[in-house]
Amino acid sequence: MNVLVTGGAGYIGSHTVLCLLNSGYDVVVYDNLCNSSYEAIKRVEKLTAKTVKFVEGDIRERLALTELFKTNNIDAVIHFAALKAVGESAQIPLDYYQNNVHGSLTLLEVMAEFDVHNFIFSSSATVYGEHNPSPYLETMPLGRPTSPYGTTKVMVENIMDDVSKSNEKFRGISLRYFNPIGAHESGQIGEDPKGIPNNLLPFVAQVAVGKRAKLSIFGDDYPTTDGSCERDYLHVMDLAEGHVAALTWLQDSAQFRGVEAFNLGTGTGTSVFKIINAFEVATNKNIPFEISPRRDGDLPAFWANADKAKTALNWQAKRSLEDMMTDTWRWQSANPNGYNN
Ligand code: NAD
Ligand code: UFG
Repeated sequence: MNVLVTGGAGYIGSHTVLCLLNSGYDVVVYDNLCNSSYEAIKRVEKLTAKTVKFVEGDIRERLALTELFKTNNIDAVIHFAALKAVGESAQIPLDYYQNNVHGSLTLLEVMAEFDVHNFIFSSSATVYGEHNPSPYLETMPLGRPTSPYGTTKVMVENIMDDVSKSNEKFRGISLRYFNPIGAHESGQIGEDPKGIPNNLLPFVAQVAVGKRAKLSIFGDDYPTTDGSCERDYLHVMDLAEGHVAALTWLQDSAQFRGVEAFNLGTGTGTSVFKIINAFEVATNKNIPFEISPRRDGDLPAFWANADKAKTALNWQAKRSLEDMMTDTWRWQSANPNGYNN
């Protein structure tokens, strides 16, 4: 099976490409490298001793996509390519709608033109919005996310639903990720944010390696066990394996038509203080921090009910919080400047 992976040079994409190759899939990566490095692909090739066909390009470029589908026999698409910085999306919302929504529309149009109907989309827990109680269940109504970034995810999920109603061949899966962290156990590939990291673990790792003086904890007065926010952190390799499970499910479910959503999380919330403590224990590094004001749009706590993925996809997150910390540190300490060493 030949799988097109958009955004395959990125953080989750590169780990997923590695798992796909190790599971025997052929992979074509299509990425404009706006937030990633070709070095990630080279390292995946080395780790797997397999080759990846890489095409540099933008999902909004219809002609380039048409050429891509014309010259490659694509059986399924895993669609990671998107901009993902929540704060930035409020400053430049049109760029986010343009990239994430228009880009997805162009991709879906070209897929239909070439009769490709297997589609796995990178969605997010943010689609549940502010008002659904945790644990989030796939049957809950989609909410109103607190950022334009989150709105793009809801919009693409709605587009997939409408496409499936109009095209009886469409087979879509929406994977709603919770908070992926960690890195491949080799320490060769990992998360390499540009500039100041927005997300917790990359920031903690950069404090540990001496690139940042201290962590700001955004709020310690939330109604949670210790006052800091709680999230459902899962190991990026578990998440990557979730994509292989979803693809296998599509292959095994010949009769399936429509769209199915699956939460990919562990089912457990962990607070910011607990994350810092787990990182310190696993790595023997001290993480200085200060308490700062709450960050706009942060929800106090959310986590997944991941039973559906377990029952239907036979997938379950299996790596521990300690694995997530150790693997983050192995990547960060070996690559203090990410892929630009
Ligand atoms: P990432 O930024 O590392 O990867 C995204 C990749 O897409 C990058 O390689 C980037 O260069 C590429 N890209 C962006 N716009 C493109 C375009 N127009 N054309 C071609 N390539 C383009 O991000 P990630 O963390 O790996 O996230 C992957 C997907 O998962 C995204 O859709 C993101 O919204 C979603 N997601 C991520 C998280 C998370 O916490 N990391 C959580 C939920 C959902
Ligand atoms: N945090 C800090 N200090 C930091 C960074 C983060 O205290 O420097 C805290 C946040 O306030 C939050 C927790 O750490 O409580 C996790 O923050 P992240 O930014 O790592 O993750 P989020 O849960 O905010 O964001 C994630 C995904 C987004 C998605 C969002 C939905 O990264 O893609 O969940 O809520 F949109």
